[in-house]
Amino acid sequence: MYFPVKSSSLIRRTIGWVQAVDGISFQVPEGGSLGLVGESGCGKSTTGRLITRLYDPTGGSMMFDGHDIAKLSPKELKPLRRHVQMIFQDPYTSLNPRHTVGSIVGAPLAVHNVVPRDKILPRVQELLEVVGLNPEHYNRYPNEFSGGQRQRIGIARALTLNPRLLVADEPVSALDVSIQAQVINLLQDLQKEFGIAFLFIAHDLAVVRHFCPEVAVMYLGKIVEIGDRDSIYHHAHHPYTQALLSAVPDVRQAAIGGRRERIRLEGDVPSPINPPSGCRFRTRCSYAQEICAKVEPPLLQIAPRHKVACHFAGELGAHPATPVTAGLLAVDDQGSPDPSGTASDVTTGPGYDDHWYDLQTKSTVSA
Ligand SMILES: Nc1ncnc2c1ncn2[C@@H]1O[C@H](COP(=O)(O)OP(=O)(O)OP(=O)(O)O)[C@@H](O)[C@H]1O
Ligand code: SF4
Ligand SMILES: [Mg+2]
Repeated sequence: MYFPVKSSSLIRRTIGWVQAVDGISFQVPEGGSLGLVGESGCGKSTTGRLITRLYDPTGGSMMFDGHDIAKLSPKELKPLRRHVQMIFQDPYTSLNPRHTVGSIVGAPLAVHNVVPRDKILPRVQELLEVVGLNPEHYNRYPNEFSGGQRQRIGIARALTLNPRLLVADEPVSALDVSIQAQVINLLQDLQKEFGIAFLFIAHDLAVVRHFCPEVAVMYLGKIVEIGDRDSIYHHAHHPYTQALLSAVPDVRQAAIGGRRERIRLEGDVPSPINPPSGCRFRTRCSYAQEICAKVEPPLLQIAPRHKVACHFAGELGAHPATPVTAGLLAVDDQGSPDPSGTASDVTTGPGYDDHWYDLQTKSTVSA
């Protein structure tokens, strides 16, 4: 997804592109949940808005039930909207203050014409009860509710049409810490009860830890690491994931008297209009070498359910001195083309393959 940057002159020409989301690939299993984590501006909301087709993508494809959502016309999108819903970050601005809770939660039923008019109210009351609100309060307005309650209204609205995929865009970051856990527990219960798949967007790794068995880490429009919970929290290989993790309080380590060493990231996130060449993280990476500026690291599968995009992938303290990717990409250790090498096809689909590149033996192994 590239957004055009327009000139300020009278004739508004396109003078550049914001490369908001650039060639990311992941899979959300039916009934499962994937956490999408990264700093502000890395493209998380854009990803969520693409999946719910609030944005029209400028390229790529998004498969849902065998259909490419990216290519559906507005008319073809209507049935999809029943299955894919979104919970928004800010419960204060995402609810129309002039509408009652009943009309907010019931609106999707009216638009999609799925139940007779006289059945809308009972369904709204049922949903309010599901999310822990008083069903008798359907006639009240959003300003009569607290932040946590408003987010419950947003959740009820997202559930109205029995969706199969919910994109939750930082659903708790605007709430008090004490309320965050309640809302996360509610979402977890709903997922179990209704088997809804979740794309759960969050700022930091702590929030998604208990919710998502699988986590993807984004940086400046790219996925830099993706894997199951154990791989990400205990065997992170990307320097950026390691830095994010070092900011997460670790109760187990604290219990044995230890502290995780905090890795501080230097500098700011570069502009997505003109991202760094090669690896986009290189301007802030303490391991960066020549190859990182010349060649983009591929998202390489390194374990059954673990992929990482780094030339020097390695667990903390075990980053190798020479690039692990050079041989695969047919370049030398500095990233210049190696005429004697043969490039391997390292691209994988959105999920995981049954064979991967083992960093220890530097060979492809199979399950
Ligand atoms: N409609 C738009 N037009 C132009 N640029 C946009 C638009 N929407 C987002 N962007 C840019 O795309 C990049 C990604 O934005 P996005 O909102 O997806 O980030 P985010 O990861 O959700 O950040 P946050 O954590 O702050 O919500 C940012 O640089 C943003 O400025
Ligand atoms: S590819 Fe290079 S710059 Fe990018 S994360 Fe790995 S070591 Fe750092
Ligand atoms: Mg966002």
